[in-house]
Amino acid sequence: MFIFCACSIGVRISILASTSVAKPNLKQDLLDTATPPIPEASSWLAAYDGQMGPVINLSQAVPGDPPPRAFLDQIALAAASSEATRYGDIFGDDQLRSAYAGESSRVYGAQIDEQEVSITAGCNQAFFSAIVAVASAGDVVLLPAPWYFNHKMTLDMLGIEARPLPLCAEAGFIPDVSEAAERIDERVKAIVLVTPNNPTGAVYPPHVLASFMDLAAQRGLWLIIDETYRDFRDQTDAPHELFSDPRWRDTVISLYSFSKSYAIPGHRVGALIAGGPVIDEVGKVLDCIQICPARAAQMALPWAIANLVDWRQGTNRKIAARAAAFREALAPCPTWKIDQIGAYFAYVRHPFRGVSSVTVAEHLAKGCGLLALPGRYFGPGQDTHLRVAFANVDTPEIVQIGDRLAGFSDTAFEAKTHLKDRSA
Ligand SMILES: Cc1ncc(COP(=O)(O)O)c(C=O)c1O
Repeated sequence: MFIFCACSIGVRISILASTSVAKPNLKQDLLDTATPPIPEASSWLAAYDGQMGPVINLSQAVPGDPPPRAFLDQIALAAASSEATRYGDIFGDDQLRSAYAGESSRVYGAQIDEQEVSITAGCNQAFFSAIVAVASAGDVVLLPAPWYFNHKMTLDMLGIEARPLPLCAEAGFIPDVSEAAERIDERVKAIVLVTPNNPTGAVYPPHVLASFMDLAAQRGLWLIIDETYRDFRDQTDAPHELFSDPRWRDTVISLYSFSKSYAIPGHRVGALIAGGPVIDEVGKVLDCIQICPARAAQMALPWAIANLVDWRQGTNRKIAARAAAFREALAPCPTWKIDQIGAYFAYVRHPFRGVSSVTVAEHLAKGCGLLALPGRYFGPGQDTHLRVAFANVDTPEIVQIGDRLAGFSDTAFEAKTHLKDRSA
């Protein structure tokens, strides 16, 4: 017994000695995933000295104003209830599933059942759950570029290859279905589309979405459509007719966010529409990552869906006016070219050929107090562009943008910042 103990102590000491230097590794796929870009870009503003006026932050697609008081009161009332302290259903509260199914049926002109809706903790989580449901490490997902950076980060950390489908300004950044078809092989499991698009603002026409659904259905793929900005477009027509196609339940997964439409990004509420059997399987993912979405905002949202129709339309009109103001502000600066503008975003070509978009954006922030995101954050081949999120910046601020860009582009400033137009 004594000999055994002495031996085991000796072994333990030698294990301790050898493990004291070894450290566990984080998995390589996560280490290789890009860091969240907005904090990096925001940090540039600390060096701005205010010489051109207050900071104009065009970097983040966040609602500029809170929602109406009556909605905040509804949320507060719900938060004060003991019901809101309890776990809810994995798929979200019935009342919200039903209200969102009803509203979506109206928007798309098609019957969407409550059982075909799941509420999630925001649209990013809806995307994460959808991807976990359809693709494994080593699979491929087709991602139009420029892409929404969190989509790429999700795929990277899960070891799923993001295969770029390049978009171009000449085509209005609308994806081409035959180019997509050429990039599909047996490893591709899904195509991701974002419409209205982040970062370009492009709104994909219904016939383009229909052709992508045909492609996905023919090739046995999932078509995941992120419709976060669905409510920020001309609402005379339905965004698309995919839900009227009987194949949709075996092909389409549609994602939505309550963050922008109801100005509640901090409450983290989004939604996913898919066929009932898909929703059931996605429930396994949701149970692990959220158990249930946070309750208070869920409890108040059915009221908001029914009662904030006019407020939402007003917000939409305000954003359309801001888009017009942005066009006007840039008119005197023709070397800064708006290649696309739409719901929420403009995608602007900067005039400094051969200079990285990160350098341009950093100098704009530090020298002019204008924060826009570098195109490079949105995928390969995007260094020529900056993303401008104008939707939540007031018109009096937007009209100053032209003057600041003109100051930025003048020779003295260029010399100071070493931003020479290398095309000259
Ligand atoms: C295309 C897109 N999807 C998803 C999200 C995230 O939305 P949520 O706040 O609902 O997670 C955003 C937010 O900027 C977005 O632009």
